[in-house]
Amino acid sequence: MRVDVVSIFPDYLAPLELSLLGKARRDGILEVRVHDLRDFAHDRHRSVDDSPLGGGAGMVMKPEPWAEALDAVVASGPPGRDAAVPHLIVPGPGGVPFTQALARTLAQEQWLAFACGRYEGIDERVYDHAAARMPVTVVSLGDYVLNGGEVAVLAMVEAVGRLLPGVVGNAESLVEESHEDGLLEYPVYTRPASWDDAGTVREVPAVLLSGDHGAIAAWRHAQRLERTASRRPDLLPLSATTGALADLDVQVATPADAAELLVLQRACWVREGLAAQGRWLVPPLAEEHADVVAGLHDWTTCAVRVPSAHASPGRLVASVRGRGHPGDDTRWEVGRLMVAPDLRGRGLGRELLALAESLAPARATHVWLTTGVLEEGNQRFYRRAGYRPAPGEPTYPGAVDLSKRRR
Ligand code: ADE
Repeated sequence: MRVDVVSIFPDYLAPLELSLLGKARRDGILEVRVHDLRDFAHDRHRSVDDSPLGGGAGMVMKPEPWAEALDAVVASGPPGRDAAVPHLIVPGPGGVPFTQALARTLAQEQWLAFACGRYEGIDERVYDHAAARMPVTVVSLGDYVLNGGEVAVLAMVEAVGRLLPGVVGNAESLVEESHEDGLLEYPVYTRPASWDDAGTVREVPAVLLSGDHGAIAAWRHAQRLERTASRRPDLLPLSATTGALADLDVQVATPADAAELLVLQRACWVREGLAAQGRWLVPPLAEEHADVVAGLHDWTTCAVRVPSAHASPGRLVASVRGRGHPGDDTRWEVGRLMVAPDLRGRGLGRELLALAESLAPARATHVWLTTGVLEEGNQRFYRRAGYRPAPGEPTYPGAVDLSKRRR
């Protein structure tokens, strides 16, 4: 990939010679050409800015040096049959957000050019000049204002450059990263397993030392969901914020939710418990508070609450949970789908089921759940959602197991 950067501070781009990107340049995977905008200013002071027409604070970058610089970049491209133009990226706080998805798209390009604005920005006509010659995208690093585009270019070239084949040695590490599949990364640890931090002993989570790869994968997936829910709830699967769930607050449950979950599950399963007439035990009715807390560890549980702006703010009204089956991570188990009695019939159950299904990791090939053998309404509900009886003995007496292939 070729990258051209136009800036009034070419030295700002020096870090692109370091580390993995520096190596990629030496290996011929990445070619970076940095241009000084002032080389395209022809007055005595090599000036590139002027005061804003119409008044206002600060200075605006003049159109002529920019047009000349961009034309020079385009003209330096391969001639003849291979003629090409770069995709011009103009970093700016008013642009489209720079995301991993955009980095992946840009990594497919042969040639990128970056125009680093400074001051109050670049004369708007430069964008028209450029757009007549090449694709142009204004891209923002985030909702804050930097002094110029250079830092943003460093970030973008690094994020894009590391996706080029051969830049990052272990391609697997690219897949397991934050944002690659829409979730943040799980926490990582190395030796010593027990670290004496000046008198405070800090242990690595025991599961990582267990050698049980299924349990480790399940723990990591749960950590990713928990982190994403607490740090970046906006990244959680879209189904959490659409349809019947749109007006409610969906969070990954913590032990602080356990008491209310216990009350809700008793309410939701009591009818099934009575119908069983003592012939078998319905597990959600047999649990105590400590069991619910333990369940929160083993499962990713979504707690759905009424948001604070509504009547009964904070009330727990629904929940569902999911986990990779211990020992078989191709099976995603969904369970404890519950909706408060007064909110049934609004499609919440369907949305929650879809949410729990969407939490499954990519390697899960089917979703599995268990419902009461006497609960014909539930069985119809799951059948409509695409579930079919699973082969083999039911998970426990009085239950039917259902499963559905993932698309
Ligand atoms: N230039 C100034 N602020 C910026 C931002 N937030 N992102 C990209 N470029 C910028």
